[in-house]
Amino acid sequence: MPNETLTVTDNRTGLNYTLPLFRGNIRATDLRQIRTGPDDFGVMSYDPAFLNTACCQSSITYIDGDKGVLCYRGYPIEALAETCSFLEVAHLLLFGHLPEADELKDWDDKIRQHALVHENVKKFMDGFHHDAHPMGMLVSTLAALSTFYPSARHVKDPGERDLQVLRLVAKVPTIAAYAYRHSLGLPYVYPDDTLGYAENFMSMLWKRTELKYNVNPVLAKALNILFILHADHEQNCGTTAMRSVGSSLPDPYVTAAAAAAALSGPLHGGANEEVLHMLDEIGSVENIPAYIAKVKAGEFRLMGFGHRVYKNYDPRARIIKQTAEQVFAISGRNPKLDIALELEKIALEDPYFVQRKLYPNVDFYSGIIYQAMGFSTDMFTVLFAIPRMVGWLAQWQEMLEDSEQKIARPRQIYVGETQPAPVGV
Ligand code: ACO
Repeated sequence: MPNETLTVTDNRTGLNYTLPLFRGNIRATDLRQIRTGPDDFGVMSYDPAFLNTACCQSSITYIDGDKGVLCYRGYPIEALAETCSFLEVAHLLLFGHLPEADELKDWDDKIRQHALVHENVKKFMDGFHHDAHPMGMLVSTLAALSTFYPSARHVKDPGERDLQVLRLVAKVPTIAAYAYRHSLGLPYVYPDDTLGYAENFMSMLWKRTELKYNVNPVLAKALNILFILHADHEQNCGTTAMRSVGSSLPDPYVTAAAAAAALSGPLHGGANEEVLHMLDEIGSVENIPAYIAKVKAGEFRLMGFGHRVYKNYDPRARIIKQTAEQVFAISGRNPKLDIALELEKIALEDPYFVQRKLYPNVDFYSGIIYQAMGFSTDMFTVLFAIPRMVGWLAQWQEMLEDSEQKIARPRQIYVGETQPAPVGV
């Protein structure tokens, strides 16, 4: 048995400290014993943006960023995307196992039952400006749901939690579709409980005057895959918001709104929208070298490239690339794909990107496929938020059940004035 400790010498005092390793890591609080004297607060770890800080133990999602591996509860993402429905994967993430047939039926039935939203939600959404961004509408409406379900604040009650999880997973596509319909000035379409999760979402988005929406199975399958790929991604910015905000024990509606707000940023889930703007700006394949030169000069970033964790090809981007071909067979080839493919080729050979290990991430191709499916650009991040709701809730539940977790409250290194000039002088 190797000695699972770390010995630290404080060169200020000459003292040695033996720090136990916990699963190969040190506990940051163990550093506090390293002090120069009784008045010294003790050593902290300084880690802006949490580059090397684990905030929890989790058994939900595993990523090996160097090898480009992503697994949910031990299952490789490639196998899940190929063989499962989104609701099966949601069950896996939330309850820890793939459902048996009867469990899946029960889960699916309940999701269908809870897909309706209160009529006042419609009225609330009517108040948004005609050109409100759908992500802003989603964030606000998620928070507003808190006012419809007051008992949701009993977050320590597992029964209450399960009910809110069901409601949120079931209702988020409805709210997303209502946001879309509102932006087009179209009447809202109620959920159709004879349709599956992705199919019902498509119906709520695109149904016009026909009695029943005719779902294209290829597009529904593609959406199902996209939902699976986006369902969880361990401690990313949005999930960290979910855990951090959730740690003060507010209800899951306002907590999920905070996570969705974090997702909306252009460096996170908002990047898929930015990729499309970027491809529009580049315009044609001949303009790529000049665009790359500007990226390398630091004028702006190549959107959809780079990742905090992946230092290899994002496995989700690879699956999306394959799925895109099936969608294009129906929709016709999106001309932006040629620009994206050439951009990727040039970037992957360029030393700037090679040295920094910058590869396409999930957002690089997702926008192109969403556009080919008929989604407007401003819906892209909303499409990300729908399946990510499952990941946020799984992580939130795990956090609440973890006896080591407390209210999130980082430290700071104060660098301001300690002896300011006297007031009034
Ligand atoms: N284009 C050009 N250069 C980049 C890019 C990029 N997309 N991403 C990182 N770099 C460069 C940085 O300039 C930096 O270079 P330097 O060492 O010369 O200063 C180096 O690579 C490291 O970059 P960091 O910002 O330290 O990397 P970090 O891990 O903090 O950022 C992030 C990760 C935010 C995803 C970043 O790569 C980025 O901004 N990408 C573009 C936005 C994007 O696609 N976001 C979606 C991410 S996936 C998701 O959230 C679902």
